Amino acid sequence: MSEPIRAPAKRLLRVLAGEPVWPPPVWLMRQAGRYLPEYRAVRAGVNDFIALATTPELAAEVTLQPIRRYRMDAAILFSDILMVPWALGQGLAYHEGEGPVLPPLRDAAGVAALQPERLIDRLAPVFETVRLVRQMLQSEGLGATGLIGFAGAPFTVACYMIEGGGSRDFAATRLMAFKEPELFARLLDIIGAATIAYLSAQIAAGAEAVMLFDSWSGVLSAGQFRAHVIQATRNIVDGLRQSCPGVPVIGFPRLAGMLVADYVRATGVDAVGLDTGMDLALVRSAMPSRVALQGNLDPIALLAGGSAMAQEALSVLEAMRGWPCIFNLGHGIVPQTPPDHVGRLVELVRAG
Ligand code: CP3
Repeated sequence: MSEPIRAPAKRLLRVLAGEPVWPPPVWLMRQAGRYLPEYRAVRAGVNDFIALATTPELAAEVTLQPIRRYRMDAAILFSDILMVPWALGQGLAYHEGEGPVLPPLRDAAGVAALQPERLIDRLAPVFETVRLVRQMLQSEGLGATGLIGFAGAPFTVACYMIEGGGSRDFAATRLMAFKEPELFARLLDIIGAATIAYLSAQIAAGAEAVMLFDSWSGVLSAGQFRAHVIQATRNIVDGLRQSCPGVPVIGFPRLAGMLVADYVRATGVDAVGLDTGMDLALVRSAMPSRVALQGNLDPIALLAGGSAMAQEALSVLEAMRGWPCIFNLGHGIVPQTPPDHVGRLVELVRAG
């Protein structure tokens, strides 16, 4: 009897399982967003970002926009890392041009007022979005596209919750970690448990891999990084191994520098996102061989386009040969990026 014919595993998932695939799969952080006119058109029809992220038909539509245009190897759920604080009951608003604003959380009463028991109900539209995206990919002939779910890692989410929004250096957060370590640990634990539940539900709805964005991990000292970035991420990886065995986890400890090797070994992530400043060859020499690397073209090179972009992209690509890698940016696409630069980049990567 012949073996049943199985569809070849998606390119994204093969790399996340430790296989070098050439040319590498490609997707871009913030690939759904304001640089796309079709995103701006959908965005103009809703009051605010939260309405968009909690309306499954619209969120699924914008998730698919970059896939239809560029045939990326992965779609990333359209949502935001701050949907967890929102669902925990901390207020959240996005103001045009100044980013997210939350009432700063600075004391025990604020932490006690969080409502982890309501989280999953409030985030139900996100799980519906995941289901819809899987269906739409299939029905639009885009079945080779992997679907990545995501959340912010606890430290970075705590940064926004404590600070009340973005910051240059997240000093109030670092101060709480030093002056009120127990309160800070309690907050990280609440976010961590919420994140395990949130990602497990995304996976149950159809996410095939998950990514943890730790955008501000680089503001910490090495000791604080081990305590608040590595330990909190490890807890999430351990929790997901229990609830969702076999589902790959991508960590993104942005600006971690030389600590990236410790991060990978101690957290047990399957893949690590590298920011623009990381040298792929040096990182490879410090990595366990099955850990996939994702990155790390400068988003400003993508904005520049032309031969400068091509040169940078080819040097990233060349450093990926022979290792399980996913081509991406070192941080999110900037809104001013011309969409045809993205098309040109994908062509370059596909040409190997
Ligand atoms: O396409 C995708 O990547 C999926 C969607 C996605 C968004 N945010 C949508 C979004 C993802 C993965 C994120 C992650 C995110 N959000 C991070 C981690 C990655 C990083 O950039 O460091 C962080 C720190 C946030 C928090 C956040 N959300 C900020 C600081 C802002 C304002 C700045 C900005 O880029 O506008 C947001 C808003 C946001 N999240 C928008 C989008 C498309 C723009 C809001 C709008 O369209 O009105």
